[in-house]
Amino acid sequence: MSTYVVVGLQYGDEGKGKITDVLSAKSEYVVRFQGGDNAGHTVYVGDEKFVLHLLPSGVLQCKGKCIIANGVVVNPKAFIKEIETIESKGLKTDHVFISRRAHVIMPYHILLDTYREEENGATQIGTTKKGIGPCYEDKIARVGIRMIDLLNPSVLREKIEKNLKIKNSIFEKYFEKPTLDVEEIYNEFLALGERLKDRIVDTELEINEAIRDNKNILFEGAQALMLDIDFGTYPYVTSSSPSTGGVCTGAGVPPTALQNLIGVAKAYTTRVGNGPFPTELENELGENIRQIGGEFGATTGRPRRTGWLDLVSLKHACMINGINNLVITKLDVLSNIGKLKIATHYKTEDGKIIDYFTSSTTKLYNYEPIYQELEGWEEDITKARSYDELPTNAKKYIEFIENYLGISVYLVSVGPERSQNIIRKELF
Ligand code: GDP
Ligand code: IMO
Ligand code: MG
Repeated sequence: MSTYVVVGLQYGDEGKGKITDVLSAKSEYVVRFQGGDNAGHTVYVGDEKFVLHLLPSGVLQCKGKCIIANGVVVNPKAFIKEIETIESKGLKTDHVFISRRAHVIMPYHILLDTYREEENGATQIGTTKKGIGPCYEDKIARVGIRMIDLLNPSVLREKIEKNLKIKNSIFEKYFEKPTLDVEEIYNEFLALGERLKDRIVDTELEINEAIRDNKNILFEGAQALMLDIDFGTYPYVTSSSPSTGGVCTGAGVPPTALQNLIGVAKAYTTRVGNGPFPTELENELGENIRQIGGEFGATTGRPRRTGWLDLVSLKHACMINGINNLVITKLDVLSNIGKLKIATHYKTEDGKIIDYFTSSTTKLYNYEPIYQELEGWEEDITKARSYDELPTNAKKYIEFIENYLGISVYLVSVGPERSQNIIRKELF
């Protein structure tokens, strides 16, 4: 058995899609285990750009199966649209399957997400408005609709009726918005179930059989630890567990089956949406990094907030995930921007110097990062393919991260294209 888990260590958009694509060439299974189409995972094959939202990024070159496991929340319409986009580019998708247990994002989830954000104005989370939070709420409240329900007309109708009774009353009385029609939604989702029925399977059985048969299985995380519902900057988080632990509940895999825990971090930090961001650069340099790094959301197109690398939060993320292999992406973006800073500690409101993350999101806004300054480099590194080809100061930057975290960097990404990697040790 060889299992690999790829997770984000910052606030999302670390380049998980690119790394999953690279690793999926040798994987027999690629599995998404949480989140939904709030994710935007970009892969460049030559000049051709693919953005995956719900489909595992392995869809591009995994020869085996791509699985959307039980922990994912699925918008069937978004799924079909994505399948059609991929097929229009000449790729096959008949190896993509969805768990019978996965919960379905319904139109009322998307509306609730949207209306709440509108209502909250300045204090809004800045969600992707894909209905992720409300869908997970219904799952936990035990009123959710699962993929399997789309295949059972009477159950589907009953569940839609029950849900709309409450949701329509909220739309009408609280938000003063139009209500939704049971019949319309029932017919639409029954038809979606009919269309997807051959792809809806018991994915936990498939995955555990693959584990028993010693297959190479890759689990692809969406979002990241700092957006984790428990360990992120609550409430400015997503509604799932994007940690390695999320694989166990989100795919039905025993903890003992997880081996290579790969954490992906950018060489700097970005965040899209609201919430604290201690090392944020709200200045010209931050804008430069945004432009050079192309830091605009793959799902919503929003400009990403940018800042220095934050080792305090990275240490927290590595601890919770148990990371044993690091990937640093976008090192090329830091070429030629002068001296570089890395946060190693925070100064709290009362002047205490700490090197651990806090559960107090409100206090975090007032924490001041303490930086170590490192020399930069001017060379273009996008063509480097071996570690020795990197400028000395770029190597020092990588080694500073490794020493602080006590974890080795196995891959350095130096460009968006599939082949732009420095692989220091083969994992497969
Ligand atoms: P994900 O959500 O973690 O998969 O990341 P996104 O795809 O949302 O954002 C990462 C962006 O950086 C994408 O546009 C990638 O094409 C790009 N990218 C990934 N790795 C590198 C890299 O090493 N250098 C540069 N310049 N871009 C990269
Ligand atoms: P990938 O997989 C970056 C952010 C949103 C918002 C918060 C909650 O591409 O890294 P949600 O719609 O999930 O309820 O929004 O989480 N967010 C992401 N930020 N990358 C993502 O995914 C994200 N998915 C959600 O911007 O702040
Ligand atoms: Mg993304």
